[in-house]
Amino acid sequence: MRLQTVFFHINLLIKIYSGTTIISAHHKPEADGKFGNQTNDETMFSISIAECNMRCSLNSRCVSFFYNSLTKLCILHSNPFTYTVIPNLGTGWKLYVTRDRTGRCPDNFFFYRQLDFCYQFRPTIQAAYISCPLGKLQRIDTEEKQNYTMKITADIELVYNAAICIQGKNTGTGWKFLDGTLMTYSNWGWNQPFKNSNQLRMIRWKNYVWATTSDTVNCSYLCEYP
Ligand SMILES: *[C@@H]1O[C@H](CO)[C@@H](O)[C@H](O)[C@H]1NC(C)=O
Ligand SMILES: *[C@@H]1O[C@H](CO)[C@@H](O)[C@H](O)[C@H]1NC(C)=O
Ligand SMILES: *[C@@H]1O[C@H](CO)[C@@H](O)[C@H](O)[C@H]1NC(C)=O
Repeated sequence: MRLQTVFFHINLLIKIYSGTTIISAHHKPEADGKFGNQTNDETMFSISIAECNMRCSLNSRCVSFFYNSLTKLCILHSNPFTYTVIPNLGTGWKLYVTRDRTGRCPDNFFFYRQLDFCYQFRPTIQAAYISCPLGKLQRIDTEEKQNYTMKITADIELVYNAAICIQGKNTGTGWKFLDGTLMTYSNWGWNQPFKNSNQLRMIRWKNYVWATTSDTVNCSYLCEYP
């Protein structure tokens, strides 16, 4: 047995012994027979779904995993594959999407531990009616969060073909988040920000650059918690 494998099993035993449950994994039957291995974060052999799940819980970038019970391959991903097309077909593959079990996120939110980001996708609506019953509209304050949002919404236009609204407004004193904090990261498109505005959105078909808009336009969005 390789040392790495020994360490893994020790880790597994410690987890079981201490009874910590960080995440739970949920099978998505509609994705049976599909898998993604292009932009995966980590691929390995695992003797069982439980071991693959444990590997996922040990990787702060893991939000979902593909497991193949025939080949014992386990592929960890940061993407929940809600609004992205799964690229490959193959026998024996099943997709498991995780949920937080530490109490950090509400039920039905995904948890990207790497960015401490609890989020939920929401349907297209007029920006003025954006509603996050738990938490608030997504804020993007780093390039890493911008990139992650691009990744998880890569094919969202197949379901919601509108721009994606994010936090940010300028009523004359600079671009600020809803809590009044000045925004220090931005990804403005050409000739933007065009004007002071109540609403910011990411234009997917222009590589997710930011544009100002009024709150009478339609957009889809993510809510984050808290
Ligand atoms: C991904 O899987 C496909 C289909 O099995 C295979 O042809 C391809 O080589 C794999 N790519 C990588 C990067 O492993
Ligand atoms: C805005 O979204 C609503 C709800 O999805 C839809 O009924 C309406 O047609 C959309 N309006 C435009 C201009 O796309
Ligand atoms: C974000 O993505 C771009 C394009 O792929 C890449 O060049 C950049 O390094 C990424 N930034 C971070 C912080 O990951």
